[in-house]
Amino acid sequence: MAGTPITVTVDDVAYSDDVEPRMLLVQYLRERVGKTGTLIGCDTSNCGACTVHLDGTSVKSCTMFAVQADGHEVTTVEGLSKNGELHPMQAAFHECHALQCGFCTPGMIMQSIDLIKEHPDPDEETVRNGLEGNLCRCTGYQNIVKAVQMAAKEASSSAQPASASSTGGAI
Ligand code: FES
Ligand code: FES
Repeated sequence: MAGTPITVTVDDVAYSDDVEPRMLLVQYLRERVGKTGTLIGCDTSNCGACTVHLDGTSVKSCTMFAVQADGHEVTTVEGLSKNGELHPMQAAFHECHALQCGFCTPGMIMQSIDLIKEHPDPDEETVRNGLEGNLCRCTGYQNIVKAVQMAAKEASSSAQPASASSTGGAI
């Protein structure tokens, strides 16, 4: 019954808890912290619905134990918007209608944010490869690819100095 003490920062708030060593990170996030935006589609590391960021890098939270997150920072899809404003990747998914039932969406968004950090101007194949661990049962991949490319373009244009962006030839 004795748990293992952990301290984890989740969406900028520090939590200290005792957890069973076998508790998965996704269970901890949903059942202890209440971050039910992080979903469980398979809990066998296939679907990607549980994807979160651990210290800024995407991980499938069903593949980790909560104790492994001790001392680390977790960001869930619920921690992305700031001051009521959607994260640019969330906004792009909205803009491009990149969801149908929405079940895969939190994981897709978390994975996509990580993807464009590594590939700031991804072509379609790069997006599809980068999201191969995230499954959409509604198979709406086309608009997901568009959304990721849109968010990548916005991120790179907002990173340009004003003089460069004014000559950048917006589409
Ligand atoms: S619930 Fe984690 S990969 Fe499916
Ligand atoms: S939108 Fe339904 S699973 Fe992807």
